[in-house]
Amino acid sequence: MLGNTNSRHLVGLVLAALASQASTEDAGHRGPDKPIMLRQSGGFTIGGKIIPNPLNPNMTLSCDHGYMEYFTPWRPRKTSIVMWHSSSTQSFQNRWDGGEGFKDKFLRRDYPVFLWDGPRVGRANWACNATYYAPDYRDQGNFAAWNFGPRYPEWWPDVQFPTENEYAWQQATSSRYVEYDTAANIHLETDAAAIAADSGKLGKSIVYLGNSASGLRAQMTAVKSNTTNIKGIVCYEGYGYIFPDNAGVEPGPGLNPFGPYVVPLEDFKKLAKIPAIQFLWGDHRDESYSFLNQSRQAAALINKYGGNAQVIKLGEDLGWKGTTHIAFADMHNDKAADLLEKFLRKNGLSHYE
Ligand SMILES: *[C@@H]1O[C@H](CO)[C@@H](O)[C@H](O)[C@H]1NC(C)=O
Ligand SMILES: *[C@@H]1O[C@H](CO)[C@@H](O)[C@H](O)[C@H]1NC(C)=O
Ligand SMILES: *[C@@H]1O[C@H](CO)[C@@H](O)[C@H](O)[C@H]1NC(C)=O
Ligand SMILES: *[C@@H]1O[C@H](CO)[C@@H](O)[C@H](O)[C@H]1NC(C)=O
Repeated sequence: MLGNTNSRHLVGLVLAALASQASTEDAGHRGPDKPIMLRQSGGFTIGGKIIPNPLNPNMTLSCDHGYMEYFTPWRPRKTSIVMWHSSSTQSFQNRWDGGEGFKDKFLRRDYPVFLWDGPRVGRANWACNATYYAPDYRDQGNFAAWNFGPRYPEWWPDVQFPTENEYAWQQATSSRYVEYDTAANIHLETDAAAIAADSGKLGKSIVYLGNSASGLRAQMTAVKSNTTNIKGIVCYEGYGYIFPDNAGVEPGPGLNPFGPYVVPLEDFKKLAKIPAIQFLWGDHRDESYSFLNQSRQAAALINKYGGNAQVIKLGEDLGWKGTTHIAFADMHNDKAADLLEKFLRKNGLSHYE
């Protein structure tokens, strides 16, 4: 039973919620206490193939589809945010210490959220081809790759990770899945993702969030999409960029999954038609770092063809300290969420339906 104080508190909350719903561009009321109210949640597979058994054509295998989990706020904004992880959806679900991740942060802000597992990974792991997982001793490599420090176990002094929390480190390094970083697989994943983007099932205003190798995949998806549903791409430390075939950029060696990828100019121009693209970098990335350099070149080319791409170094440009490879899971991911929301507002992507 609710006492008087509690019911007054409750009424206050309801009024606050109504007030925030009343404005179409609500400026506040999205504090950490705002409840997450969902209209629905669920998931579906999309894309993929149905292949016949060569020994018995009556038998088939449905395979190489992607899996999309969705969460629709009670009163959704128009723009959906598709979170495309590079290591596992977990990186969007929680902060490093288990605190709130981007999924809940953007549901609280009324954006429909989609968590995507591309073909063969996570919950879409029924592959048409045989797959093979070769165990490797990856933990210490993750530490450096995720920019927690120069090498395991030397943390950067100001790193936005709870460095004393052994459990947090264990969670970070173990919640991964096999990524299949091959050029063939990047095409397989982005074929399915482009079908998803064009299907209408993600809405008609989609922003892709990508990180590391999934930043590249988000760009490739936009190049393959035939609609204008994709309205924004935000890549946190994207590994791999796409270039037009007239820019004199050599494609990456065949087996290098991280490009550069070279596509016909007409396809590249699809990136220039996207209302807003942001390439973000954490700390300790010198200008000589090849992916940073590529992000600057790619952004300049997108803008040359009339697009709107920017590169932001969160340290040098905004004064943030200790951002890792995965800003949205960092201890200061509140700031990262605010920055993303600012991007959405500025580019007309924050309106309600
Ligand atoms: C495939 O199905 C058809 C129709 O039911 C049947 O006649 C045929 O024997 C089946 N083939 C095999 C290899 O089972
Ligand atoms: C699947 O197997 C075929 C045949 O071996 C190969 O050509 C293709 O690249 C493979 N696809 C992926 C995504 O690994
Ligand atoms: C886009 O159109 C091209 C050309 O018709 C087609 O090959 C491709 O499959 C289409 N992409 C999607 C995602 O449907
Ligand atoms: C990228 O690096 C090359 C040399 O490695 C340099 O000439 C070029 O100016 C750099 N481009 C950008 C946009 O920083």
